[in-house]
Amino acid sequence: MQLGVCYYPEHWPQDRWPLDAELMRQAGISLVRIAEFAWVAMEPREGEFTWNWLDQAIEVLAAEGLQVILGTPTASPPPWLCRAHPDILPVDAQGRRRRSGSRRHYCPNSASYRQHTGRIVTAMASRYGSHPAVVGWQIDNEFGCHGTARCYCETCAIAFRHWLEEEHETIDDLNEAWGAIFWSQTYGDWNEIDPPNLTIAEPNPSHVLDYYRFSSDTFVTYQQLQISTLKSLISERQFVTTNFMSQFADLDYHDLARPLDSVTMSSYPTGQAESNPSLYMPQSVRPVYAYDVGDPYITGFGHTLMRGFKPNRPFWVMEQQCGNVNWTAYNTGVRPGTVRLWTWHALASGAEAVLYFHWRAGLYAQEQFHSGLLNHDASPAVGYTDLEAMKADRSLMSEITSAPHEAQIALLLDYDSLWAVQLQPHHRDFDYMRYLFVCYRALQRLGLPADVLSVDADLSPYKMVIVPTASLATKQLATSLKAFTEAGGTVLFGVRSGFKTTSNRFTDLPLPGLFRDLVGITVSDWHSLPPGASYDLGSSIPGLVGPATVWAEALNPAFSDSHSRDPDLQMLARYSSGPFSSYAALTEHKVGAGRALYLGWYPNGPQAEALLAYLATQAGVLSLAAVPDGLIASRRGPHLILLNFTEEPLTATVQGRTVLVGPRDVEVVKTHGS
Ligand code: GAL
Ligand code: ZN
Repeated sequence: MQLGVCYYPEHWPQDRWPLDAELMRQAGISLVRIAEFAWVAMEPREGEFTWNWLDQAIEVLAAEGLQVILGTPTASPPPWLCRAHPDILPVDAQGRRRRSGSRRHYCPNSASYRQHTGRIVTAMASRYGSHPAVVGWQIDNEFGCHGTARCYCETCAIAFRHWLEEEHETIDDLNEAWGAIFWSQTYGDWNEIDPPNLTIAEPNPSHVLDYYRFSSDTFVTYQQLQISTLKSLISERQFVTTNFMSQFADLDYHDLARPLDSVTMSSYPTGQAESNPSLYMPQSVRPVYAYDVGDPYITGFGHTLMRGFKPNRPFWVMEQQCGNVNWTAYNTGVRPGTVRLWTWHALASGAEAVLYFHWRAGLYAQEQFHSGLLNHDASPAVGYTDLEAMKADRSLMSEITSAPHEAQIALLLDYDSLWAVQLQPHHRDFDYMRYLFVCYRALQRLGLPADVLSVDADLSPYKMVIVPTASLATKQLATSLKAFTEAGGTVLFGVRSGFKTTSNRFTDLPLPGLFRDLVGITVSDWHSLPPGASYDLGSSIPGLVGPATVWAEALNPAFSDSHSRDPDLQMLARYSSGPFSSYAALTEHKVGAGRALYLGWYPNGPQAEALLAYLATQAGVLSLAAVPDGLIASRRGPHLILLNFTEEPLTATVQGRTVLVGPRDVEVVKTHGS
């Protein structure tokens, strides 16, 4: 387990660097990320490189035995570059050309930006690609942050038309895929197609979905430009990565992760808890564990997403909150013990390294109120003190790092489906990420580890797969889930599965479309339920009680085209009030050696818990521990890690044994077997 820090030597006098490096080493830090916003310091004018300071900074860090991760500085093009090539500046959905003066102000399709990106990355990689102290590279910084995943400039409009030609081949195919006859949108020529912003009424959702895909592919291409440049110049022992933002979903992280050596993330527990209220619905059910620890389920969800983006490579936390942040409404202060707990949490979730953001609180510009491991005056801040306290944990942490994180349950995340639901939620509270989170959280509450995977991941290591909403159905997914079920797996589908085709048109098949065969039912009708409207439920599954809210589907146990009952189909819940009262609400279909279930309503947290507890037992997946709310259980190899995020001591039951975990504390228990 390596610990590290994000450092900005260009913000501090050179004669301070040696002391900083020494203090880092003393705190147990061995990794330092630098330079990801330092373009203007490396190249103050076009072609005029000033490497001296960066050479020096790396030497000073290396002299203390610290290893360096270099950031390519493309998240912040310098003013001279934007002035020389105004086409670099992006255009937002409101049609406004954005200005420089902060960061992320570039269009990833701009030819001049790509050229200058190639230049600066080549220059850096040539200089440091075989430096012994440099262990890896971070490309750019948080692609898509600050709402920059989609640019609407003229360059992008042209690139979009080319992308569409590749995808649809003929203009008639595109018209068909988009249903463009609607409102007279039929196109006669590729040049008639614009980006889908600034329309009077809502744009065509097939058009928008393609724009989202195109924008995501654009960043994959832009990232690839940097990967290829780096790989052609750096030594093989240096890795290439970028940093992702938890449940950020404007870009397809599966696609971005594929060509990288590993993925890393930014983890800001209090910031994420405060700025993602939509993961809980209604707001009144949002729990508070301690005002300054964040929500461990949201934090762990972020870790879990990262683990799934690159299933065979442990993730790193490239930026770990180590005190207050500066970008939420309240930016709570953080008490001692919290940074240690967050570090343990990342480790428990499968992280291999944790780097704190950042070294020292800044004296100027945008992030002055953001904490560092050191305060503004260089005195140790709460995070630094926690690092001292963590020294006693380090050898155990290292032992745990070499053990794998394993799960027998997989949740599937598909960005195409997520975007399709986002574009036509039909019910204000129908949110794809929340649905995924409700299932993830329920499993955590039950002590059941889960991975979140892409729809084309290898499912063979899992016993159970949950597909919250496979809104856009593909034949490939239907086939792979069928094979998984036949081989003995349990698959649970959520509402709206199979409703749409890959181009975001409604299917003309009986619902759930391509999955109907597998689940053995027909969705006869579906209702969006406004606040206050709900249908009662009856079920033999313990704790699975109504009502159904938000969304309900009437499940017909027989195919609508056959009158014979399927002996392999069982009804596990039914509606007991309202217009669907003669219909099933949850069904189970035996297929081969396994089972495929269809859940006909959008479950709340307790309902998800009751159902998943039942299903896990049926599937033979054992809970790691019985844990109360706020106590997280995770396992790496033989190590069961228990983390208490509350203010009270809590107990867990592990293999019949009671384990007490102090407030904001960690216990590691050696377990046997699985
Ligand atoms: C991250 C970003 C950092 C810094 C940090 C502040 O999203 O990558 O550069 O701004 O937030 O919390
Ligand atoms: Zn653009």
